Amino acid sequence: MNQAVKPRKILITSALPYANGPIHLGHMVEYIQTDIWARFQRLRGNSCIFAWADDAHGTPIMLRAQQEGIEPQELIDKMKAEHQRDFDDFMISYDNFHTTHSDENKHFSEQIYLAAKAKGNIATKTIKQAFDPEANMFLPDRFIKGECPNCGTPDQYGDNCESCGATYSTTEVKNPYSVITGATPIEKDSEHYFFKVSDYADFLKTWVNSGSVQKEIANKMNEWLEDGLNDWDISRDAPYWGFKIPDTEDKYFYVWLDAPIGYIASFKNYCERPDIDINFDDYWMTDENGENNKTELYHFIGKDIAYFHTLFWPAVLKSADMRVPTGVFCHGFLNVNGQKMSKSRGTFIQARVFLDHLPAEPLRYYYAAKLSNTVDDIDLNLSDFQQRVNSDLVGKVVNIASRCAGFITKKFDGKLSSNLADEALYNKFIDASDSIAEAYESRRYSKAMRETMALADLANQYVDEKQPWVLAKDDSKQQEVQDICSQGINMFRAIITFLKPVLPELAVKSEAFLNAGELHWNSVKEPLFDSEIIKFKPLMTRIEEDKVDGMLAANKLLLAEAAALQNNDHKEIENEDKDPIAPTIEFDDFAKIDLRIVKILNAEHVEGADKLLQLTLDLGDLKGQRNVFAGIKSAYEPEELIGKMTVMVANLAPRKMRFGMSEGMVLAAGPGGKDIYVLNPDDGAIPGMRVK
Ligand code: MSP
Ligand code: ZN
Repeated sequence: MNQAVKPRKILITSALPYANGPIHLGHMVEYIQTDIWARFQRLRGNSCIFAWADDAHGTPIMLRAQQEGIEPQELIDKMKAEHQRDFDDFMISYDNFHTTHSDENKHFSEQIYLAAKAKGNIATKTIKQAFDPEANMFLPDRFIKGECPNCGTPDQYGDNCESCGATYSTTEVKNPYSVITGATPIEKDSEHYFFKVSDYADFLKTWVNSGSVQKEIANKMNEWLEDGLNDWDISRDAPYWGFKIPDTEDKYFYVWLDAPIGYIASFKNYCERPDIDINFDDYWMTDENGENNKTELYHFIGKDIAYFHTLFWPAVLKSADMRVPTGVFCHGFLNVNGQKMSKSRGTFIQARVFLDHLPAEPLRYYYAAKLSNTVDDIDLNLSDFQQRVNSDLVGKVVNIASRCAGFITKKFDGKLSSNLADEALYNKFIDASDSIAEAYESRRYSKAMRETMALADLANQYVDEKQPWVLAKDDSKQQEVQDICSQGINMFRAIITFLKPVLPELAVKSEAFLNAGELHWNSVKEPLFDSEIIKFKPLMTRIEEDKVDGMLAANKLLLAEAAALQNNDHKEIENEDKDPIAPTIEFDDFAKIDLRIVKILNAEHVEGADKLLQLTLDLGDLKGQRNVFAGIKSAYEPEELIGKMTVMVANLAPRKMRFGMSEGMVLAAGPGGKDIYVLNPDDGAIPGMRVK
């Protein structure tokens, strides 16, 4: 396969993270996936510009700023700086990171909207919407909670129930209330602006089948297209944090209209930099046939936002006579230890917490080893992560260099041989180059990693068989030692080249050690002869298990603190006790009691017991479950306890009772009868958390 003679001109984007929260390891799947692709393209000699931004508009950002008592501008500035620091430390090689709250974005949002309007693609309609009469504002669905119409669980979001999984529309929620003020929402009329997506149905039908999206997404899109396209509501009423729609008094662009336009705005902002000589039009405008064959445009996104990127976005661009994406690349979601990332399990891992405890490259490698070009979810299994990185990168890759470098440095002044000891073996590395490149190009990173590790195995086997450390003792075998070790170093160099998009820091350190310039994709075809390497220093160290544990613990703590802060408003602490005070005990005696938050997994009546309920209590993943008999039958029906949090004495010696073993005690108080109360800490509590 001959590489394109003319370098390709590519523009890529990642989805814009919301500016109201920190970056977590789920986001990083996408940003690392995008970055690897960008670095790969550049390594091949193509131009690949990576431009994106923070998504800085919308109700959640407005409210979050209000809550913190700051202006939205201050909030989004602060978040942008934090986000960029995370991306830099994960070695994301973006060319520009902008914000959607920018002059450029305002300009393009207005321009695109006006173009659509001029074409007749905008309609207005009066719709009924939930309105908070106290906050005096319309409520997005997520700001309405209430009882699930299906199972009655309270405090469920307006569109789905976390308890039974039912989905429904906001109007079906029982006893709805506004999350902002607690007020009961009323319905109110409002005029909204709509983009008529169906005007572009024919175009979308062609575009979806042009190879621009993965098969799974194309199937979904075909379903959507067959179901018929509804007009898309692109306006929101004041108060709203965003851009005002031209020629209106109090209507704003919905955040999802100006968010993807942020891709264009960020690129424009990049083009305007004094040191950059790039023609904006080459990337976003079309020729007389309505096409753009000069450059390629790709969006990396998660599967949750495919609808916006594969229906609305191409239609909006088409409407504005701008170029449409060459491809939209969709990835799956990140699970941690086999389950959805969860705040209560502490597996909603923040990028910053990870970086505080662990280096970035191992995660980049682990994600690469898991990522394919499908929308399948990927799993971050933390013990597998630690083992895999240690065995592949330290045990296999770096090991090749560390086994060969010493002899070359000590015995041959760092000089490599002038020939390859085993040309046939080295040719396998050259031959693998096209297939690995193809795997990167098509985002089958796991395949690229697998093939590269197979080469690392070959290289290690070679050194194992040749045993240079034995030959080194024989004066007549010195040439052989130099040849074998040079072969080893050249194989190591090829492997590092193949891994360079994933492991940029290891690549830089290796380039310094090899002392022969920067590695490019074709460097593999030109092995090093007679050149001098410098003294080998360890290129990467093993990840210790306690680092991973420490990271998780720190993350749990952070989540617990954040949850506690959020719940403070509606938390009442009762600490009155009418019983006479018992003799004073020392603090140390008290401190022996280990009080822990537990989740009541199950509660049931006990045959033949008139006071007891049998409880199954969860102390979290690490501490397991307990069976406890509690004398609260007169006050609680078992069903009302299931799923609740409470507090237990976790270090009480197990006690054998008539009905079985009781492993601890639940705290409850009250005069008796119906009036006995178990402690009931709300959402902020995590099973296993110590009660202070
Ligand atoms: N602001 C919108 C995107 C606008 S793009 C014009 C948004 N932001 S987000 O912060 O919620 O998500 C940003 C990207 O991260 C999305 O592509 C999303 O799919 C991805 N991920 C967020 N959580 C994720 C996982 N747990 N796993 C993998 N990717 C995830 O959506
Ligand atoms: Zn329900």
